Amino acid sequence: MQSFRHALPRIVVHWLAAVLIMFLLATGALVLAELPNTAQKVGNLRIHMILGGLAGLLIVVRLVLARLHPAPVVAAGEKLGHIGHVLLNAVILLMAASGMVLALQSGALDAVFFDGVLPEDFKNFTPRQVHGLLSRVAMGLIALHVLAALYHQFIVRDRLLSRMGLGAR
Ligand code: HEM
Ligand code: HEM
Repeated sequence: MQSFRHALPRIVVHWLAAVLIMFLLATGALVLAELPNTAQKVGNLRIHMILGGLAGLLIVVRLVLARLHPAPVVAAGEKLGHIGHVLLNAVILLMAASGMVLALQSGALDAVFFDGVLPEDFKNFTPRQVHGLLSRVAMGLIALHVLAALYHQFIVRDRLLSRMGLGAR
């Protein structure tokens, strides 16, 4: 019988990316944005930049995996779900891109990985404003995404969470 689940690599990379993105959103907004740009911030920024780049890369990997392993069977409301997933992927890719442009433009890349110094503040750089705004859009989309998954699971009762590996095949 055809499996209801997504292919294993898609499941593994979905959850890796999900944990990573939620970690970046939480620590970015609650820790990084609150710290003044002193030398002590460099370690935090280094972790954020490396993991942020990795998150962008994982989205690309997922787009490739989705090509290699199409969804097993059609779920109810697949069109709307698809639009939501495209938006999620696009916003996260744009976050990685705006973060990289910010790091280059502000000299943060040089300060974090070489011998430069951090700018006094990031807030006057346009890519910083874009990055901050996109982070709120991402938080909203993820909240909707989780609510949609719970709606499917418990109200429509189509066991959608099982498609992502949670629960019986
Ligand atoms: C607790 C958090 C999360 C839950 C419960 C969850 C749940 C799910 C479920 C059940 C599916 C399967 C939908 C289907 O088969 O059509 C799915 C797919 C998907 N999720 Fe999540 N998700 C979470 C976090 C995230 C995050 C943070 C992202 C950020 C990018 C994300 C992006 C996606 C995408 C793009 C898909 C489409 C399938 C794919 O590309 O592999 N999810 N999610
Ligand atoms: C897709 C992955 C990423 C996510 C989810 C993310 C998330 C965040 C969040 C939530 C903030 C704080 C925004 C605010 O509250 O206004 C932030 C700030 C920042 N991010 Fe990212 N980020 C990502 C990728 C990157 C990358 C790849 C870089 C650089 C290479 C980067 C560099 C920065 C910098 C320099 C700040 C400013 C910190 C400050 O204002 O003190 N981010 N990020």
